[in-house]
Amino acid sequence: MKNVTVLGSTGSIGTNALELIASLRDRFAVVGLAAGANTSLLLRQVEKFRPKIVSVKGAEAAHRLQSLLRDSTIQVVHGTEGAEEVARFQENEIVISAITGIDGLRPTLAAIRAGMRVALANKESLVVAGAILQREAKASGAEIIPVDSEHSGIFQCLAKESRSDIRRVILTASGGPFFQTPLAEVRNKSVEEVLAHPRWKMGKKVTVDSATLMNKGLELIEARWLFGLAPDQLAILIHPQSIVHSLVEMCDGSTLAQLSWPDMKIPIQYALTYPERVDSGLPRLELERVNHLEFYEVDERRYPLVKLARQALETEKSLPVALNAANEVAVGAFLDRRIGFSAIAEVIHLSLQSHRLREVNSLEEVFAVDAEVKRQTQTIIAKRY
Ligand SMILES: NC(=O)c1ccc[n+]([C@@H]2O[C@H](COP(=O)([O-])OP(=O)(O)OC[C@H]3O[C@@H](n4cnc5c(N)ncnc54)[C@H](OP(=O)(O)O)[C@@H]3O)[C@@H](O)[C@H]2O)c1
Repeated sequence: MKNVTVLGSTGSIGTNALELIASLRDRFAVVGLAAGANTSLLLRQVEKFRPKIVSVKGAEAAHRLQSLLRDSTIQVVHGTEGAEEVARFQENEIVISAITGIDGLRPTLAAIRAGMRVALANKESLVVAGAILQREAKASGAEIIPVDSEHSGIFQCLAKESRSDIRRVILTASGGPFFQTPLAEVRNKSVEEVLAHPRWKMGKKVTVDSATLMNKGLELIEARWLFGLAPDQLAILIHPQSIVHSLVEMCDGSTLAQLSWPDMKIPIQYALTYPERVDSGLPRLELERVNHLEFYEVDERRYPLVKLARQALETEKSLPVALNAANEVAVGAFLDRRIGFSAIAEVIHLSLQSHRLREVNSLEEVFAVDAEVKRQTQTIIAKRY
């Protein structure tokens, strides 16, 4: 029996992870949960899984939750410190890191510092602090196992391979809902149209990132840190069927690939059971029902954020932090209907133009750049839109 904690338990990854754990109750027990504002769902999760420690974002919500719990031995904490406490809870063996955005960084780092297995969905942590997280994982002995389907695919392909034999890694992208929409029509797509992803059901931020392809840009940087690859070893192909999650080209001309239906439970389960594989009734891939698999190059006129992400990947220093910060603000403004869809890329572009590039070696420096760029991006939006 392994003890699991889920950070971001009320989100898309979090609820998938808990459904999976419920079907594998003889193998996994939930000891900690951390969520943001959705206390009603969290309360139901607590009643069902009986964790020992839970965290919510606000102090008032924590107070309310504590008063509603029938079991007064469950410890309720709050805020980022609360999520960190849940992440480093001494009974944890596996921590699923699935809070969205840079808010997930401190709790993820807390789990890594405590030396556990971290099943990592929160890609933004690696984007903004990949060197710090890898350094800390090395020091504590923590294992970082990817949950992102593309990175899980690469991880599975590389299980028995030597990293020095890799020529290139290719991440696939569905292309989002507008892959074939005439460019002129993409400009003013509504929030509802952007959130209608053709293949994956995910949280709002990552769904918008999938429509702009920023998600794939962030994933290039994530892959760089997970697998220690050089920028020119990382490529993207559009693959609308979302069946092949990634491909690894080896030095001898062979290309390895990982295929499955687009179901996040598959990579979540692998991160929990690795190196074992378990039959929990997840759907088999029947390729005869797919018929054809297509692959296309990325058109950077349609997806200008891929170019910016590649610049951040190559330049490093503070640019990945700035890219992520500008993106978080621009996506938030789009979801709040303060800017249009095409303005997301414009705003990020403008924000990065005025960014003062510098070294970031500590968590404090990461958060300082994040705060500065977020302020700057809000100012750009307020002045221009
Ligand atoms: N969804 C996918 O299929 C998928 C695939 C690959 C990677 N990912 C990555 O996984 C992460 C989560 O994605 P998601 O789609 O699950 O997002 P989501 O549905 O929006 O869920 C986010 C979770 O984080 C919690 N949260 C947000 N801010 C918080 C804070 N400050 N403190 C504590 N908890 C906070 C939310 O709580 P409340 O809802 O209670 O406020 C929710 O539980 C993202 O980094 C995403 O890029 C997702």
